[in-house]
Amino acid sequence: MNIVFNLLAIVFGLFSLSLIYPFLQILFDKTPINPISPTFQFSATFLFDYINFTLGNFINNYGKETTLLLVCVFVIIVFLLKNLCRFLAKYFLAIVRNGVVADLRQKLYNKIIDLPLAFFSEKQKGDTIARATVDLQEVEWGVLSVLELIFVSPVNIILSLVFLFSINAKLTISVLILAPIAGFVIGSVGKTLKKVSDKAQEKMGGLLSHLEETMGGLNIIKAFTAENYFSNKFETTNREHAHFMTKMLHRRDLSSPMSEFLSVSVIVIVLYIGTRMVLNNSESLDSAQFITYLAILSQLIPPAKAFTDAYYRIIKGSASLDRINEIIEAKTDIKDAENAIEISQFNNAIEFKNISFSYTEKPVLKNISFSLEKGKVVALVGASGSGKSTIAKLLTRFYDVEQGEILIDGKSIKNISQKSLRRQMGIVSQHAILFNDTIENNIALGNEINTQKIVEASQIANAHNFIKNLENGYKTNIGDGGFLLSGGQRQRLTIARAIYHNSPILILDEATSALDAESEKLVQNAIDKLLHNRTVLVIAHRLSTIRNADNIIVLDNGEIIEQGTHNDLLKMKGVYEQMVGLQFPVALNKEKKTK
Ligand SMILES: Nc1ncnc2c1ncn2[C@@H]1O[C@H](COP(=O)(O)OP(=O)(O)O)[C@@H](O)[C@H]1O
Ligand SMILES: [Mg+2]
Repeated sequence: MNIVFNLLAIVFGLFSLSLIYPFLQILFDKTPINPISPTFQFSATFLFDYINFTLGNFINNYGKETTLLLVCVFVIIVFLLKNLCRFLAKYFLAIVRNGVVADLRQKLYNKIIDLPLAFFSEKQKGDTIARATVDLQEVEWGVLSVLELIFVSPVNIILSLVFLFSINAKLTISVLILAPIAGFVIGSVGKTLKKVSDKAQEKMGGLLSHLEETMGGLNIIKAFTAENYFSNKFETTNREHAHFMTKMLHRRDLSSPMSEFLSVSVIVIVLYIGTRMVLNNSESLDSAQFITYLAILSQLIPPAKAFTDAYYRIIKGSASLDRINEIIEAKTDIKDAENAIEISQFNNAIEFKNISFSYTEKPVLKNISFSLEKGKVVALVGASGSGKSTIAKLLTRFYDVEQGEILIDGKSIKNISQKSLRRQMGIVSQHAILFNDTIENNIALGNEINTQKIVEASQIANAHNFIKNLENGYKTNIGDGGFLLSGGQRQRLTIARAIYHNSPILILDEATSALDAESEKLVQNAIDKLLHNRTVLVIAHRLSTIRNADNIIVLDNGEIIEQGTHNDLLKMKGVYEQMVGLQFPVALNKEKKTK
């Protein structure tokens, strides 16, 4: 529809311009009274002859003044139609344009959700945000808004040229000789544009990352009075960005003055040649035709300008499109197997079989084997960095193991669909991850909301009491990352979430380590209730959780060095016994007394 209306607008535009001709004829009092209607030809000469013929008839019948009035009304109607078509063309383009941008944004978001965690671990968050916002905007402005120009301007230019050709071929040929020179100049400036644009967008990503980090760590920045450091760091990137943007704009802004200058030069040359033709009276060009010719030729300037402008914007936008495509076309290396099995329940056991894994070159896990039977609790302990969280990430298949395999009820997790695998697991991590939403929605997190069950889950998680006292209870919005809540409250919410989802397998990764003693007690109490009758992989340094575990696995540098129950391990008098002595002196003393 856009193209159809644009073409109509061009035709009306050309037609309306050729109506200058009758004005001039009336003005110069030159209307030849032509009694015979001219035979139809597809040419400007026919048009002019036809106009002369009609005009002559009109003047004969109604007189000059009425004819002038009629011509005026006719011009207005044609212009009205032209601009109506222009509006309709834009009207339909707006729908396409925003539709494409929305689709692209959705595609990008879905891909971001779909990509494995590893993809983003090396990337700055701000960079991804920049791609989803600034780059997308750039695509909208740069590519979509000028898409029609790329189709329409050439058509406009070609139609105008054809029209000009039929008025006077010789003049038009001189225009055509000059065009390639202009094209070359325009193209050579355009080439450098993309590189600069790429750099500018990259810096924008850096800026957004910085901003994001600043917002997240504002209290620390202020507490350590690091404002200047952060401000300076921001300024450096900001200036670099401004530098590249300026460079880019300088180049881009060259497009329109350059094409105007080039077009006007062409027109002046034509003016010179044409006027001489009219003066010499030698060629078939009268002054009214020549003025009409010039009027149409001058109308070539806007499309020529628009075309160069569009060309430059597209170059700039394509740099952004590349950046968006980098994400959309990124390979997902953690994929569901072709005939992945859906599991609906967990029956027997999870087995880790000779697992080795590394994020980079440095091995993080070496030959780890253990099993976790249904209804049992296995605890992972070990120094920080020994690979405990990594084991949890492998079980949820956030990363794929390199060697060995993880089996659930005898099936390798690589053959199970990721969704059904993860549906079996509930996770409570060290950092309570909450979203800017109501308490209810944070607990249900995408599942159906059952108020009764949410309250029950919150009661088990020791969260009901504080939620009840909030202004809007379960409907209270907890702010960005749950910042309206205390650390302990946040953690109890994530525990309520795990309970609500009622997954058969629970993974607790140092759920209490970030808490103060008071909240730790409440959270620990919630966890104790949670452990009941569930299969749990718990990573903890609190003795009370570990002590009752059915199996305690001691990790050191990615290797299992001891395992057994609390009492077994104490008897071994190895690393575990030492750790217990170091980390929980009070608890250990109690332990010794009871012995
Ligand atoms: N995304 C990652 N990329 C690279 N190395 C990582 C990543 N996550 C963790 N590591 C490294 O893997 C090792 C084990 O980490 P982790 O399993 O988190 O230890 P723990 O939970 O026992 O403290 C550490 O040396 C850590 O530096
Ligand atoms: Mg950890």
